[in-house]
Amino acid sequence: MPIDRTIVAIPGSLRRGSLGRALLNAISDSLPEHVSMTILEAGDLPVYDADVVTEWSVRIKDIQNTVQAADGIIVSTPEYNGSYSGYVKNTIDWLSYGTNPFRGKPSVAVAVAGGVAGGADAVSHLLPVLMRLESPYMPSPRLNVPSAGSAFDDSLQLTDETVQRRIDSFVPAFLAWVERFAGTV
Ligand SMILES: Cc1cc2nc3c(=O)[nH]c(=O)nc-3n(C[C@H](O)[C@H](O)[C@H](O)COP(=O)(O)O)c2cc1C
Repeated sequence: MPIDRTIVAIPGSLRRGSLGRALLNAISDSLPEHVSMTILEAGDLPVYDADVVTEWSVRIKDIQNTVQAADGIIVSTPEYNGSYSGYVKNTIDWLSYGTNPFRGKPSVAVAVAGGVAGGADAVSHLLPVLMRLESPYMPSPRLNVPSAGSAFDDSLQLTDETVQRRIDSFVPAFLAWVERFAGTV
């Protein structure tokens, strides 16, 4: 079956051993054949600074086009001090410079966290950001991974069957959410 839907994933952590990226890979592995996922890489961008936008304009356009071309957005964030990461907010801020590729584009946030709450606060804090950007946000099901260090093995493969079952429910729900808005932006 040809690929006819594209999801862009916005990671919230840069580190090589990121469990948030491992979660995105596990989601990607669970997608049906006709859906592809691109992980947006924006780690080369500096902290948002209006004084440097001109020198970064080509790069900004590039990441904005990637989001614009997608049918849906998954934002992945670690929980840092009870909220989302600075990196994920920086990426979102650059993406919204001078335009808004989030407008009308269905989105959801997922989280990993060291604690038992699984990054629920990080996700809750991202919700108003994505709503401010006029992205229709999938209210449920949520996908947070508590005690994330024990959900993946040393090769960053998901080993937690409960999390896999939650991904198995999350993926079709999000794809159905994406279909609701397909062709509207
Ligand atoms: C600065 C910092 C703050 C953190 N704050 C929290 C927190 O408030 N709650 C929590 O459950 N985990 C917290 N953690 C743990 C991270 O959420 C966890 O290590 C996560 O796996 C990091 O994401 P990553 O693996 O994608 O890099 C914190 C970690 C760091 C480095």
